[in-house]
Amino acid sequence: MYSSKIVSLGHHVPDTVITNQYLSNLMDTNDEWITERTGIKERRWIDPKVDTVANMAAKATRMALQRANLTEKDIDFIVFATITPDYFFPGSGVLLQRELGLDGRIAALDIRNACSGFIYALSVADQFIKTGMYKTILVVGAEIQSTALDITTRGRNTAVIFGDGAGAAILQRSDKQGILSTHLHSDGRFAEELYVKDPGSSRPHAERQPEQILDTTSFKVVMNGNQVFKHATTRFMEVIQEALDQNNLKKEEISLLIPHQANLRISQYIQAKLSLRDDQVYNNIMRMGNTTAASIPIAMSEAWAEKRIKENDVLCLAAFGSGFTWASALIRW
Ligand code: UT7
Repeated sequence: MYSSKIVSLGHHVPDTVITNQYLSNLMDTNDEWITERTGIKERRWIDPKVDTVANMAAKATRMALQRANLTEKDIDFIVFATITPDYFFPGSGVLLQRELGLDGRIAALDIRNACSGFIYALSVADQFIKTGMYKTILVVGAEIQSTALDITTRGRNTAVIFGDGAGAAILQRSDKQGILSTHLHSDGRFAEELYVKDPGSSRPHAERQPEQILDTTSFKVVMNGNQVFKHATTRFMEVIQEALDQNNLKKEEISLLIPHQANLRISQYIQAKLSLRDDQVYNNIMRMGNTTAASIPIAMSEAWAEKRIKENDVLCLAAFGSGFTWASALIRW
């Protein structure tokens, strides 16, 4: 059995910065409420004339390739995590493949596990490398949330949270064990606690005609925030502990925890429960908002560039989100 290692990271976020002040002009909200309840000060939203999920992913990928002196041709397989693909189908994996000029040479797989999507994708890539099927895999998380938000007072509990962006990781076969373990969970009983209903295929034909869709509410993000928050805090702790136990590591041996950037209060809760110092946890939600599957790879790419991740460090990734799904990964850098 082979081992896999993350050899490079990259990210791309749209140019347009959306401040809390800007949102307070669109809906009944304010900087104080958003900062206190979420920690977010600003997020990036796309310009639909410039950005797509696939082209943001391509920009993140090129940064990762350049940082490792690799080229597109080195990629054997693409695993693409997003719940906001450019089309209802096909998925964004093939669109990224096209952007990278890799048509027909390699396969592309799409993962739809929301905020846990990047860790799910990493886990899939890790298995393919361990079995020897592929040597170099591109793992991407990219999202455009802004176009599915209800940016009126009715949708203010979600509109203020989410942001757009992309992050990419290059995984390669390695002599040294990089990815120590991944841990995946889901519980579909809570599917409707955080979801976008349409375009749902189970809708009767008559309801799917464009002229029938006068009310587009069902195309917007709906979240039962309190319920999601409650489950998130419990599951984050469980899945981090599961990863530590499997590797016989103690919480104080985590060099850097990169939690999915859901809400700064959730990150601070986990940090306090694990008794980690500030330098052992990486947060960028203040600047990026919650970018779902993109949040962990964007944060990793930034942390790596800032030299917060060093050789031999123990990196812990953890996520929770729609589904519900939750996941963790322990990595020896
Ligand atoms: O990434 C996927 C996983 N997602 C998460 O983990 C998110 C988890 N949930 C959360 O982060 C929080 O539940 C929210 C940030 C979404 C909401 O914070 P909260 O402290 O749970 O607030 P709440 O929903 O209990 O609402 C408290 C009040 C309500 O008003 P009333 O009923 O007390 O009068 C809301 O209507 O705050 C109101 N409110 C707002 N006020 C100003 C909700 N959103 C806003 C807003 N601005 N944007």
